[in-house]
Amino acid sequence: MLMQKLIRFFSTDIGIDLGTANSLVYVRDNGVVVNEPSVVAINDKSEVLAVGEDAKKMLGKTPINIKAIRPMKDGVIADFDITEVMLRTFIQKAQTCVPWYQRLLRPSIIIAVPSEITEVERRAVKESAKKAGAGDVMIVEEPMAAAVGVGLPVYEPRGNMIVDIGGGTTEVAVISLSGIVATKGVKVGGDELDRAIVQHMKRNHNLMIGELTAEQIKIKIGSAYPLEDDKVLEVRGMDMNSRIPKTVKVTGEEIRRALMEPITVVVEAVRIALDKCPPDIAADLIDSGIMLAGGGAVLKGLDRLISEETGLPVFVSEDPLNAVVTGTGIMLQNDLIYRN
Ligand SMILES: Nc1ncnc2c1ncn2[C@@H]1O[C@H](COP(=O)(O)OP(=O)(O)OP(=O)(O)O)[C@@H](O)[C@H]1O
Ligand SMILES: [Mg+2]
Repeated sequence: MLMQKLIRFFSTDIGIDLGTANSLVYVRDNGVVVNEPSVVAINDKSEVLAVGEDAKKMLGKTPINIKAIRPMKDGVIADFDITEVMLRTFIQKAQTCVPWYQRLLRPSIIIAVPSEITEVERRAVKESAKKAGAGDVMIVEEPMAAAVGVGLPVYEPRGNMIVDIGGGTTEVAVISLSGIVATKGVKVGGDELDRAIVQHMKRNHNLMIGELTAEQIKIKIGSAYPLEDDKVLEVRGMDMNSRIPKTVKVTGEEIRRALMEPITVVVEAVRIALDKCPPDIAADLIDSGIMLAGGGAVLKGLDRLISEETGLPVFVSEDPLNAVVTGTGIMLQNDLIYRN
């Protein structure tokens, strides 16, 4: 007990959402102190040039000797070394906001990972965090962290459904009595929606666009359900035949059609999780409904579509992009890392 108190006094407690699109870091008693894209820019000598926001700006715009890399793919580590660099940068950044004596010991870390990753992938995350400077590392499942983060009553003997739609993955979980009762994960998230837009622009407008432009189109005029005020957007890219830059007009309606295929996969994941639920817990969802979190939850009309497809009430959490990291933060504040 005394030992734990000492460790707690001389080290920083950190919660991390290591996401495919964004990484967030929570420091005990300080809140969310890092919120940056999961991107690292390196040159041809493997020297790191930028991490996070600055590196994301370089995506698709780098000269030949520079690469902007997204080291996480489908919610798991795709590039070990780069993930480690990124983690170390974010951990160090987080530690700048604590007093010097809390930097004497290595930080204790709670890190959220997708619920359906393999034991090997789980160990890889732990190892990467340790190499990046962590002391104790505790792994929590992302949907559980998200559910805690959005304030669902996870401890009660009652079913609650959380759907976390991230950049690389969508995770659906039904939680009761602090445990996951039914779950379904698919490797489809916001990135797949961006890719669908890139394809659509190629096929229908002969226009090549980059990932970042596709993401902007999705955010500005994308939707999952017909809107009252569908917008039109001017999009710049490169003509596929003439290879010269051009501008075309795209409508919200056509983008919605382009997004339908990946969105159907997300809706299907919700259906499968519902199907796996014991009947009494499924019945609880008629009242408690479905809570959406993650950046994908912000897509216009997605709540309405899922509600129509399932017949259940659907809510979008207040701060969907912060749900997972807030959950790890609540776990830190409750000393979960020491009790384990
Ligand atoms: N307003 C918006 N409309 C639609 N999509 C959005 C919006 N804002 C952000 N997104 C998308 O949300 C995704 C990022 O969400 P989030 O940060 O939750 O993912 P992540 O946690 O990094 O990924 P994962 O959980 O899969 O590892 C991106 O694909 C981004 O384009
Ligand atoms: Mg996530």
